Amino acid sequence: MSSTAVYPGTFDPITHGHTDVIARASRLFDRLVVAVVMRPNKSTQLDADQRLDLAQQICKPYSTVTVQAFDGLLVEFAQSMCAKAIVRGVRTAADFDYEAQMALINRGLASQLETVILPAAPETAQISSSLVREVARLGGDISAWVDSRVEAALMV
Ligand code: COA
Repeated sequence: MSSTAVYPGTFDPITHGHTDVIARASRLFDRLVVAVVMRPNKSTQLDADQRLDLAQQICKPYSTVTVQAFDGLLVEFAQSMCAKAIVRGVRTAADFDYEAQMALINRGLASQLETVILPAAPETAQISSSLVREVARLGGDISAWVDSRVEAALMV
């Protein structure tokens, strides 16, 4: 039976850190669904369509990866995709604490769904979407952390 995982996030914007997780998770599962939350519980710089469109462009080279919009409970979306796992990336101990808490909540909601936590690669562990946004806003060079299409979207 083929295995599916869901990799959810706000992706405001998608960074090389996210792409690293996508590439690695796509080797672990037969199918990976990158799930872009449309109405996150935080304000975003890029609107929902931009976040979705950039994620779609960047995931195009990965034949087993699809990108979908979602809203509502993550576990319900994952179940609707017949996923057996939720994938999340972590950079620091603080990330891990947050992810462990989310994993417990999601487990309480859907006990069959595992959370798979991938540690960030050393080359991407310093990247954060919020810092990328801030550097871009102040006119700094973000080309080491994001794809050129993301850079163009943030520079508008
Ligand atoms: N490398 C680099 N950066 C990474 C990374 C990695 N490997 N892994 C995570 N990040 C960073 C991102 O850059 C981003 O940085 P920022 O905090 O500075 O902005 C941060 O981690 C998190 O962003 P993102 O990966 O887009 O995810 P998120 O935390 O915004 O996503 C949801 C949260 C969408 C998964 C969560 O809110 C959710 O499930 N919502 C649906 C509603 C629901 O079911 N709620 C109950 C769940 S408990």
